[in-house]
This record gives sequence, C-alpha cells and structure tokens, in this order.
Amino acid sequence: MTTAQQQQQQQQQPVITITKILGALTLVTLNLLMKSCAHIEDVVVDGTCRGRGLGKGLMRRGLDDAVNIHKCVMVDLTSNPNRIEARTLYQSLGFELRDTGVFRYTVPHYRK
Ligand SMILES: CC(C)(COP(=O)(O)OP(=O)(O)OC[C@H]1O[C@@H](n2cnc3c(N)ncnc32)[C@H](O)[C@@H]1OP(=O)(O)O)[C@@H](O)C(=O)NCCC(=O)NCCS
Repeated sequence: MTTAQQQQQQQQQPVITITKILGALTLVTLNLLMKSCAHIEDVVVDGTCRGRGLGKGLMRRGLDDAVNIHKCVMVDLTSNPNRIEARTLYQSLGFELRDTGVFRYTVPHYRK
C-alpha cells in the first residue's frame, strides 16, 4: 500500500474521542481451584447523570462479563447501609444480602 493510500485509509476511519467519563466500576475476577468468582468495586455514576439507567447498565455489563467471559459462578460486592440507591440497584439485579461476617486485615500504617 502506498503512503497516499495509507493516508486516505486513515482519513476514512472514524475517530472516537472520549471527552468525559460518566460512570465506572471495577470488576475483579478470581480463578480459584474449583471455580471462578468475581468482586465488583468502585461503582459510581457522575452526579449530573444519576437516575437515567447508567448505573444499572454498568452493573449489567459487569455481570455479563463476569458470567459469560470469565465464567464466574458468583459475584460479590459490599455496600454501606447508607447507600440506599446502590443497595436498591443491587437488589433489583438479583444480589442478595448475606449475613456472613466480613473480616478484613488492614495494614497497620493505613489503620485510622
Ligand atoms: C448507585 C449509583 C451508581 C446508581 O447509578 P444511577 O445511574 O443513578 O442508577 P440507575 O439510574 O441505573 O438506577 C438503577 C436503580 O438504582 C435504584 N435507584 C437509583 N436511584 C435511586 C434513588 N434515588 N432512590 C432509590 N433507588 C434508586 C433503583 O433500583 C434503580 O432502578 P429503577 O430505575 O429500575 O427503579 C449512583 O447513585 C452513584 O454513583 N452513587 C454514589 C456512589 C455509590 O453509592 N456507589 C456505590 C458504592 S457501593
């Protein structure tokens, strides 16, 4: 391909520019001995865009990736009781509140 043809091809390709991130989540997957499972962290939607389905869309995408790409059999997350919107969202997607105690070790330097 000549340089002119390469330039023409580049000019025809669509340019996608991300100008603002409106929401995000972090999906962590674990490949354990007997199964794979996932953890979702950092779910957030920009304050100006809440209540329009973005959070539910993000969560559905995260669950879909966990189940269909990473073959996870369960997905865990934690949510502070004050986070009413988030907890309603999670329950509407089928997450169930568990009463198992969560234990955490915090590295001494980071303890409050
Ligand atoms: C939680 C959060 C991500 C939801 O994002 P969102 O885009 O506003 O959510 P959606 O518009 O997709 O709504 C999804 C569901 O959330 C629930 N929800 C959303 N806003 C709500 C509100 N004000 N009160 C109660 N439930 C609410 C509903 O179940 C809703 O489903 P429905 O519209 O079918 O009833 C967003 O509120 C947020 O970023 N909060 C601050 C950060 C946070 O709390 N993160 C979670 C940490 S665990």
